[in-house]
Amino acid sequence: MTFSSRNPNADAPIGIFDSGFGGLTVARAVVDQMPNEDIIYLGDSARAPYGELPLASVREYALECLDYLAAQGVKALVIACNSASSAVLRDARERYSVPVVDVILPAARRTASATRGGQVGVICTEATANSRAYDDAFVANPQITLHTQACPEFVEYVEAGITGGPDLLAVAQDYLAPLQDDNIDTLILGCTHYPLLTGVISYVLGDTVTLVSSADECAKATYARLTRLNLLHPGPRESRHRFFTTGNPERFERLGRRLIGGLVADVEQFSALNPAWKD
Ligand code: DGL
Repeated sequence: MTFSSRNPNADAPIGIFDSGFGGLTVARAVVDQMPNEDIIYLGDSARAPYGELPLASVREYALECLDYLAAQGVKALVIACNSASSAVLRDARERYSVPVVDVILPAARRTASATRGGQVGVICTEATANSRAYDDAFVANPQITLHTQACPEFVEYVEAGITGGPDLLAVAQDYLAPLQDDNIDTLILGCTHYPLLTGVISYVLGDTVTLVSSADECAKATYARLTRLNLLHPGPRESRHRFFTTGNPERFERLGRRLIGGLVADVEQFSALNPAWKD
């Protein structure tokens, strides 16, 4: 085994931002793929759901949160929210000196190589659908026809801790029927919460439709960016995972633990004035 010299900036944490706790699906994928990385997660639960807000508000809130994370000296920023990625991606790339990874472009890249017939679906929030960010992501792929379906009730089910049962199944059948009529062969799970509904979505669509998780693809893209920049911590080390929310830390921890397990612990209240945020 040989060890090459390590960039000292590799010791810094990765900053992960989401509108609330759904971005924990991205945090889970980041920790699974990069167990030696420290992370600081900020969820803006007090102002979520972003998916129902006008894009201008999503943009304002997201940049505010990303500014706070950037000020913590993170080595990369991960925008783990589809609605926020839709609203700020271009600005964020120019605004910060560290690499910025979003959830939309990595999922679009994976989809472009996964689709067999070019009929692609994306399910997402209203904010993401209205932004047409996924349409923009496929402009260089004229062979792809994108069919967009907003599924606002899915977030409510996940936040209520419900990932199965007849009510959810009926809602999923309603949302997915137009995409089945369009004969999609690939479906992008274009919202942080939807990987938690993979079971019901693949039950409705069957094996012939390939599901692309924006969370998994985002984590792979983060790994690739850090590797290319020699910023990946090679390990081994005891990594530190810190979770902040602008909302209620107990609720965040309860929902987070229920849906993605033991990764979420000791959730802290975010306030720019909170001394814990500074250490
Ligand atoms: N994180 C949001 C997204 O991925 C879903 C939740 C919300 O609407 O805030 O679009």
